[in-house]
Amino acid sequence: MRLLVTGGAGFIGANFIHYWLKHHSKDEIVNLDKLTYAGNLENLRSVEKHPNYKFMKGDICDGGDVAIAMHGVDIVVHFAAESHVDRSILGPAVFVMSNVVGTQTLLDAAVEIGVKRFHHISTDEVYGTLELGSKDTFNENTCYDPRSPYSASKAASDHLVRAYHVTFGLPITITNCSNNFGPYQFPEKLIPLAITNLLEEEKIPIYGEGNQVRDWLYVEDHCRAIDLVLRKGKVGETYCVGAQHEEMTNVQVAKKIVKLLGKDESSIEHVKDRPGHDVRYAMDSAKIRKELGWKPKYDFDTWLEKTVEWYKKDTLWWKHVKSGEYQEYYKEQYEDR
Ligand code: NAD
Ligand code: TYD
Repeated sequence: MRLLVTGGAGFIGANFIHYWLKHHSKDEIVNLDKLTYAGNLENLRSVEKHPNYKFMKGDICDGGDVAIAMHGVDIVVHFAAESHVDRSILGPAVFVMSNVVGTQTLLDAAVEIGVKRFHHISTDEVYGTLELGSKDTFNENTCYDPRSPYSASKAASDHLVRAYHVTFGLPITITNCSNNFGPYQFPEKLIPLAITNLLEEEKIPIYGEGNQVRDWLYVEDHCRAIDLVLRKGKVGETYCVGAQHEEMTNVQVAKKIVKLLGKDESSIEHVKDRPGHDVRYAMDSAKIRKELGWKPKYDFDTWLEKTVEWYKKDTLWWKHVKSGEYQEYYKEQYEDR
């Protein structure tokens, strides 16, 4: 089997490549990645010489790059995207280009060569926001209501993927997952930003009151969910993937990280809120749990501890990532907040 993984040099894509080569070592993987600020070949250092792994630098919006990468491919696993809400507020255009036009370019090529499966990675953010304190959850039948340029571009890409299934008969599956965390996550997202800031004796910037709620999913649990959908999922179907650990606010998550790193709560700082900040996400993963037997391996605290340990050990990885472009972004995003 030959897989085309798009965005494999990013956080989830790289974890997925490690996972796949470990569990399906006979399969071939082509990783197509543009290496934007978020793409980092250091994430794949230990597999770069694997005989069944090949990296191709290219843009999913470029039909020529995509045609080369797609050659002989059986399964497409599509991660490549601009993925950070705050950056989509600073500059939406690239989100429409990579997330919408890029997905459509891949879909055209997938139809052309007749792939056996096109699996699209999406997000719970396409469903909008839930009321704080309610018991409501998102599921596969929830109406789309995206509220940021990021989630709007992901919603558009989901619609295209489904449209290509209906119109052209492309065998697709989609997973809409909740917030991932784990090794190799770019430190613009809350958990790695909090950990690495504390390791550098900086504070954790919490937007507004910090009472927002996310459904935190460890990246390896997510990779296992994608594996199950690829092997046992039904073509044309969508699966919601969220860990559904006990609900925690952003401040509670920050406090856990503070404790694990032996700091005190004065290292949490409240800053100006994000415009259009979604208040609460909660996934109902009953479908993938019942139909495919998926569940998270450990609880949130265990996975968070492992994650903190990884960032403590791999300081070179994040120190390198936090230099250069990151400094400019951090200044623009957090100065005067
Ligand atoms: P990431 O930002 O860490 O990585 C994205 C990767 O895509 C990078 O390697 C980047 O170089 C590549 N890329 C971007 N534009 C490209 C283009 N035009 N052509 C080729 N490559 C390009 O993202 P991530 O956190 O690993 O997210 C992966 C996918 O999962 C995305 O589709 C995202 O929307 C989705 N998702 C992420 C989360 C999360 O918590 N991180 C949650 C739900 C869904
Ligand atoms: P993030 O990791 O950016 O993911 P998303 O916005 O896709 O859910 O943010 C997770 C939560 O943490 C979200 O409610 C915004 C909040 N947050 C902060 O309070 N401070 C920060 O510096 C960041 C990056 C996020």
